[in-house]
Amino acid sequence: MSPASPMVRPMRPDDVATAERLSAEAFLDVDRRMLRAGDPEPALRPATRAGDWRSRTEHLLRTDPGGCWVAEGETGMLGFATSLVRETTWVLATFAVRPEHQGQGLGRALLGAALHHGRGCLHGMLAASDDPRAVRTYAAAGFSFHPQMTLEGTVDRSVIPVVSKVREGSAGDTELLDSVDRRARGAAHGPDHAWMQDAWRLIVSDTSTGSGYAYLSGGGRLELLAATNRRTATRMLWAALADGPATTAVRHVTAANAWAVEVGLAARLALRTEGYLALRGVPRPPAPYVHHGALL
Ligand SMILES: CC(C)(COP(=O)(O)OP(=O)(O)OC[C@H]1O[C@@H](n2cnc3c(N)ncnc32)[C@H](O)[C@@H]1OP(=O)(O)O)[C@@H](O)C(=O)NCCC(=O)NCCS
Repeated sequence: MSPASPMVRPMRPDDVATAERLSAEAFLDVDRRMLRAGDPEPALRPATRAGDWRSRTEHLLRTDPGGCWVAEGETGMLGFATSLVRETTWVLATFAVRPEHQGQGLGRALLGAALHHGRGCLHGMLAASDDPRAVRTYAAAGFSFHPQMTLEGTVDRSVIPVVSKVREGSAGDTELLDSVDRRARGAAHGPDHAWMQDAWRLIVSDTSTGSGYAYLSGGGRLELLAATNRRTATRMLWAALADGPATTAVRHVTAANAWAVEVGLAARLALRTEGYLALRGVPRPPAPYVHHGALL
């Protein structure tokens, strides 16, 4: 029998499909509320991305069962939060409450349960939506905010430079990737690399002057990029744009990563702001680094 008043309990694998739809609807609701003049009509997360979402959440339930929580009421799932701990860093992956149940304290209770998973961590990171409720909840938990930029549009292929010293990556590169992560974002991705290599294409650059890598989704869009210096990061982003679709988006670019803005503008992409990188115990946004929205 379902409980009479909402309770917060650990997430189970059979919750994942419901959580995916709940999050898709909650984010569609935010996109509609935050719609600016000239923006296209927002759409529900497409099936291709829903599959990635479920597979990633199942992965987190395996690696971080103590970081994934559900709020449940008489009608079923009302909200959830998923989080992960990698070395010294706690990361909030996804967090959503059904629109009709928002503003009643469920979000704060869920975030508290997820933060407890990271109680031994010095650092915290998450990619916040523009939802004022989300921003308010993270501020109360001690996070500071760094605006994120998105570069999007049609790449001008005539300006793409010849990119050399970039190769396909493989599982054998994982130790290198973890080292680059520690330098760029302060913590390795560890087990997330295996999931990312299953889901996406990996490209790597490793020379005597610098190392870096990038993951590209099935459609060729940049998912995550890390490097030991700006020159290598710039090379990786050009490589990603060269191999990517005609129309693309590079999301989650912070002001600390001006090199990415320079590449995007040179490729004639348009720049806009979208959400925040929220940090706790981290003095400045990772760089050279383009974070992933959930695995950060
Ligand atoms: C963000 C989210 C998970 C928070 O859950 P919630 O149950 O609404 O959160 P709570 O009720 O615990 O707290 C919300 C806070 O925002 C405040 N709030 C409510 N409506 C608000 C509004 N329109 N503008 C600003 N603040 C608002 C509440 O008063 C509360 O702050 P307080 O505790 O200081 O009073 C939920 O709103 C949501 O799913 N949003 C859409 C998806 C999303 O953006 N997720 C976050 C991804 S980073």
